[in-house]
Amino acid sequence: ISTENRFKYLIIGGGVAAGYAAREFVKQGLKPGELAIISKEAVAPYERPALSKAYLFPEGAARLPGFYVCVGSGGERLLPEWYMEKGIELILSTEIIKADLDSKILTSATGMKFSFETLIIATGSRAVRLTDFGVHGADGKNIFYLREISDADKLVEEIRAKKTGKVVVIGGGYIGLEVGAAMRINKFDVTMVYPEEWCMPRLFTREIASFYEGYYANKGIKIIKGTVAVAFDCDAYGEVKAVKLKDGTVLEADIVVVGVGAKPLIELFKGQVDEAKGGIKTDGFFATDDPDVYAVGDVATFPVKLYSDMRRIEHVYHARKSAEQAVKAIKASEEERSIPEYDYLPYVYSRAFNLSWTFYGDNVGDPVLFGDNNPASAKPKFGTVWIKNGKIVGVFLEGGTAEENKAIAQIARVQPPAEKYLSRLRKGSYFFA
Ligand code: FDA
Ligand code: NAD
Repeated sequence: ISTENRFKYLIIGGGVAAGYAAREFVKQGLKPGELAIISKEAVAPYERPALSKAYLFPEGAARLPGFYVCVGSGGERLLPEWYMEKGIELILSTEIIKADLDSKILTSATGMKFSFETLIIATGSRAVRLTDFGVHGADGKNIFYLREISDADKLVEEIRAKKTGKVVVIGGGYIGLEVGAAMRINKFDVTMVYPEEWCMPRLFTREIASFYEGYYANKGIKIIKGTVAVAFDCDAYGEVKAVKLKDGTVLEADIVVVGVGAKPLIELFKGQVDEAKGGIKTDGFFATDDPDVYAVGDVATFPVKLYSDMRRIEHVYHARKSAEQAVKAIKASEEERSIPEYDYLPYVYSRAFNLSWTFYGDNVGDPVLFGDNNPASAKPKFGTVWIKNGKIVGVFLEGGTAEENKAIAQIARVQPPAEKYLSRLRKGSYFFA
């Protein structure tokens, strides 16, 4: 291995976590040439959430360099020049296909070798594909997934080429709801299909979902629930023309967008690091059982101190914070200092149309709805608290202000007795005001 391919610190993966880790390395003190980031993407780390939102807008669309990290958390944008100035090697368009953690060598698809003293695994997730389940016709040319900027570019190109027509969105999770809205904003005729009784069932209650489903219906989006796509009928050019559903419905389609979940990219490390709950097992400093290997972001299964539980989280706030924590821990261990363990409060948000919701905490126990969840309201604002053992453990809020979102985060963190808020909640008022 040539000296230029030997690094003190190496990050595999060039997504959200990698970008925030780089910034933290610089904050903590980094010498030129010590750090490299290897990414199969062709661009520097960016805020991935933009891809299913403003990136798809017909006007005023978000484009790089506008959403390079760390703008998503209100920080300074790290342009490619920033990495150069700091002496950080950005090794782009380079896929690692072999990782030997014992000999500390990574090998790329083109046979390049890279060695490290400390490795941070930040490979994120890949989209689950319908071809994974062998759905007939699932390799159709106009079936789109959304994970990387190159996927988003292909979808944008298709939107521009087709201009109008019928879009079938498969999946009622984050991608389904956000991209379904974006396609409607682009004036396509949108039908969403998902197997569950209501959208986003892992987080939403029936009442929360009924608001979003009603709102989407008012925007002209058709929703077909409780069924899945079993086949795509393609023409002679390999273009999907119709989607066949298990319940017998046949939907005409010009574009199909699929969001049926993500899978963490951990195959390269199988048998080399401990795993838990489908991810790479780490401690509260994101160290794996190999002391020179850390794992952050989507791939890490880490202790959530607040709930005395091990979890894997596929959300951007955690990608940022886990990356910062790992770098702090690496630096502290070199300097024989100690730092506090990661103390994560689960936080998710989403935006579509003029809607914006946030959720903090844990959605376990009994949900209680508050506010106005009528989808036809001029300014809908409502939420739900989850009560467990008499305490508020999770809060969801649609349409909250920045201060209100801060307040609900505090409540989810402190877990106050629900008693205090119940009468206000029953009256339908904003209990945290
Ligand atoms: P991330 O996926 O960001 O980066 C992984 C990087 O590793 C990629 O660049 C990939 O190419 C690279 N890589 C993987 N394997 C490699 C290999 N073998 N060799 C080289 N490079 C390799 N969350 C949220 O809280 N709010 C939101 O609104 C959204 N919105 C959203 C939209 C879309 C379209 C997606 C796909 C995801 C979101 N998310 C989100 C989730 C959030 O973006 C996600 O949790 C973080 O990006 C995870 O950060 P990581 O750095 O772990 O992976
Ligand atoms: P998801 O897990 O949120 O939703 C998957 C959905 O797919 C399920 O709810 C279900 O409705 C549906 N589904 C499953 N199997 C199906 C099948 N065979 N046919 C039809 N539908 C099926 O996953 P996603 O929406 O694909 O998102 C991918 C990743 O991107 C996740 O990690 C997610 O956290 C992330 N993401 C997050 C946000 C956000 O936090 N706002 C936004 C976009 C993407």
